[in-house]
Amino acid sequence: MDDITSSADCARLVRAFYERALTDEVIGFLFTDVAHLDLDEHLPRITRFWETVLLGARSYGGGAFAPHLRLNAQVPLRRGHFARWLWLWTDTVDRLFCGPVAEEAKAHADRVANAFSARIEAINERRDGAADQSGQLTPVSSSESDHSAAATTSSLAALLGPTIVGVPRHSPSPLGPT
Ligand code: HEM
Ligand code: HEM
Repeated sequence: MDDITSSADCARLVRAFYERALTDEVIGFLFTDVAHLDLDEHLPRITRFWETVLLGARSYGGGAFAPHLRLNAQVPLRRGHFARWLWLWTDTVDRLFCGPVAEEAKAHADRVANAFSARIEAINERRDGAADQSGQLTPVSSSESDHSAAATTSSLAALLGPTIVGVPRHSPSPLGPT
């Protein structure tokens, strides 16, 4: 398995991640039903983000947090959503790439997910006055990825709060049966 070395590698990683994320039973609806994402526009932008972070391309201009704030105004984003995002990202990186840049792809995602999650949690607590769990996100490592998606989901259920209610549970698992 090779490391991430080109813009095409970033594009492949991003495409593979979104193939799973869009149909994910925990966070898929946020991309499809809530954000109504235009993939033709979104995937190149996310690819530019990652080639900037990982390859120094400088093709991405900042402002990554704001769209998530808008999303959070529609559906409160919980720690469990970020934990699920991070687990999917980490597992997708591990399935496709191996090496120092791949490690950086996981490490930077971990930092950003934690930063976004903490900021949004603080905003939601101020808004709702709701006390929530705190602490670092703990992405499930790929060595544990043979747990079923359902098990992963149920372990996150406590973190997700009321947003998980109403998420259809009949959608096919993107992880397949294990
Ligand atoms: C080559 C090195 C790096 C590049 C090109 C890079 C690039 C970026 C970019 C483009 C963002 C999104 C910012 C935005 O648009 O809102 C970001 C966010 C972030 N980065 Fe990096 N990064 C690098 C290294 C690091 C390192 C070494 C750390 C920490 C040790 C780090 C921590 C973070 C955090 C915490 C965020 C989220 C900030 C927020 O709260 O919005 N990054 N980075
Ligand atoms: C619960 C987790 C997350 C969800 C549901 C989510 C969803 C989304 C959605 C729907 C958009 C598009 C918003 C719009 O265009 O209106 C977006 C944009 C973006 N997301 Fe996320 N995201 C999550 C976490 C993250 C994390 C952890 C990162 C970085 C490591 C990230 C990086 C980005 C970037 C770079 C953009 C493009 C921002 C721009 O320049 O417009 N996202 N995200």
